Amino acid sequence: MTDAKTPFDAFGSEAAVHQLVRVFYQKMNTLPECKRIRDMHKGDLEPMIDKLATFLVGWMGGPRRYQEKFGSVVIPAAHKAFAIGEAERDQWLLCMRLALDESELDTKWRKALMDALLPMADMCRTDL
Ligand code: HEM
Repeated sequence: MTDAKTPFDAFGSEAAVHQLVRVFYQKMNTLPECKRIRDMHKGDLEPMIDKLATFLVGWMGGPRRYQEKFGSVVIPAAHKAFAIGEAERDQWLLCMRLALDESELDTKWRKALMDALLPMADMCRTDL
């Protein structure tokens, strides 16, 4: 959608955001360079697909599905238990960039999302 006001509008549906997150975790699950962050996650990635997708739907300007389903979340606090430095942050961002590249989103929105996710990912670091 070219005149979309929010990234969620640009995606056009919750299903499209879920698909993005599904591809994101497929990348994490298969790219050897992302093994370190894959190993931080549980064997079954389905619950995380649901959690990250519902979170991103709200974060991108859509309905707050994560809060409806799981309650409140403070993203930096949710990552305290994990060793996340620059390398792990970059692995996460790589999966997201590759997933966005496979999405229907136009270049302008892909860049806007990556620009907004970088500070979010930095907030998840535990080495600072
Ligand atoms: C910086 C790199 C990041 C790494 C390495 C990372 C890793 C993880 C891990 C290992 C978990 C727990 C998974 C499990 O329970 O199996 C998690 C949970 C989660 N992460 Fe991240 N994450 C990162 C960045 C982000 C960012 C930028 C966001 C949001 C845009 C995010 C959103 C979430 C959410 C919503 C949860 C679920 C929280 C809960 O319900 O407990 N993560 N992450």
